[in-house]
Amino acid sequence: MAGGVIATDSGTNQDFPAKLTGQVLICTAIAAFGGLMFGYDIGISGGVTGMDEFLMKFFPNVYIKKHHAHENNYCKFADEYLQLFTSSLYLAAIVASCAASFMCKKFGRKPTMQAASVFFFIGAILNVTASKLSMLILGRIFLGAGVGCGNQAVPLFITEIAPPKYRGGLNVCFQLLITVGILIANLVNYFTSNIKHYGWRISLGGAAVPAIILLVGSLIIVETPASLIERGKKERGLKTLKRIRGVDDVEKEFEEIVRATEISNQIKHPFRELMKRPSIPPVICGTIIHVFQQFTGINVVMFYAPVLFQTMGFGSNASLLSAVITGTVNSLSTLIAVFGVDRAGRKKLLIFGALICLVAQCAIGGLLKTYLTETSKVPNGTAKLVVGLICLYVNGFAWSWGPLGWLISSEVYPLETRSAGFFLAVGTNMFCTFLIAQSFLSMLCTMQAYIYFFFAAWLVTMIVFVAAMLPETKGIPIDEMVERVWKKHWFWKRFYKSSDIERPKASIQLEQQDKSNH
Ligand code: BGC
Repeated sequence: MAGGVIATDSGTNQDFPAKLTGQVLICTAIAAFGGLMFGYDIGISGGVTGMDEFLMKFFPNVYIKKHHAHENNYCKFADEYLQLFTSSLYLAAIVASCAASFMCKKFGRKPTMQAASVFFFIGAILNVTASKLSMLILGRIFLGAGVGCGNQAVPLFITEIAPPKYRGGLNVCFQLLITVGILIANLVNYFTSNIKHYGWRISLGGAAVPAIILLVGSLIIVETPASLIERGKKERGLKTLKRIRGVDDVEKEFEEIVRATEISNQIKHPFRELMKRPSIPPVICGTIIHVFQQFTGINVVMFYAPVLFQTMGFGSNASLLSAVITGTVNSLSTLIAVFGVDRAGRKKLLIFGALICLVAQCAIGGLLKTYLTETSKVPNGTAKLVVGLICLYVNGFAWSWGPLGWLISSEVYPLETRSAGFFLAVGTNMFCTFLIAQSFLSMLCTMQAYIYFFFAAWLVTMIVFVAAMLPETKGIPIDEMVERVWKKHWFWKRFYKSSDIERPKASIQLEQQDKSNH
């Protein structure tokens, strides 16, 4: 089975005694360095690909085009290999997250996180010492393997060690650390761009730091009780549970984990289960949310902000500084989600976030269409306005589609398919990130300012989908999604007419047992 047991319930319909112990906080902080690794990588590539010395060494054609006075503004950076530099990581991440889902199950979350940090460390070393393009790409592939393993194992790990009451907040912390990683990368790029000859090497090598912290830190963290029990180590699982909960009275939660793992272990082919009729609604919603997340166009900004700013005529340094500004807005705005997600509800945040992004994208597209021709520069005031609009756009994304993409895809599945469904979400996210990274610079060259309207059209589609099709999951106990959400939804309920026949017998038995216990 892919992944393992994500939640042992929780959350909600049972109150398990637990304290928010120092152990949980330390383990979460260390594991979240996996998010920081991912974020660092997202942020670093855009800055590096805007640095002249890096371009001269690995992409001389792009360097020549960039400095050619009459070169089309929108096409300066269009180069397949330059795109491959950014996107190769995500292809590797898809393959790695698939392998990691099995690794998590067979060996545990902790070794998978350790593997992530080792891959990431090797990737950073290959990049820092790269003497030719092939070495650089190989380094990116290793980094991708690290990201794939990390993104599969870390959210699982945090979800499983968090006391049910704090699960939502701790979950969003993973996204928060992604944004901190992006911001650190932007800052590093800003400073290293002034270091002649090897500044880009420092930027790329910086990836080794979070990898080392995660590796060393992972030596002191615990394995999750769910993973231990799932692999037959019941006694150690119980001991660990008592330690991380800070109370002795953990029997109820322990039993819940045992039940969850029993169901999970009974399903030999969770992916087959995902193809059955009752799985269709959560599969569609949990997966499409990641397609939409990426087609907000966020990674155009995250990967290529410095390049975009240079397209408008900013110098290298001003472009990197602007990326630092957008990175700061991203991190700070994510805090809104930490506090707002359980109050306002998912749908409201998604719709309002998308509306803000839509307004910003249309305004940017309109301004660039008017002021940025193929060879002219954007007037100074307009360029600053565009940076402001990009900040507005990032703000709208950071408290909506960013954290909620990950949250919703982890809460819409019933227990027996939750982990396989989550792998589907990670894979979809990585694949769409790859698509955007690989095609954006060419699309910018062909579509010019219209590219912003392309993303605006996606945003309209998302708003309609969320308003009409996505059920609200705020405050719904995680194991009551099928009964209280899907079976009641005006459209999705049609998939549940014969649900009792389709759902695994064990799950139904356990549900009945549960009801009689209450
Ligand atoms: C997305 C990334 C994105 C980041 C920006 C994450 O939720 O998955 O693709 O770069 O947010 O903060």
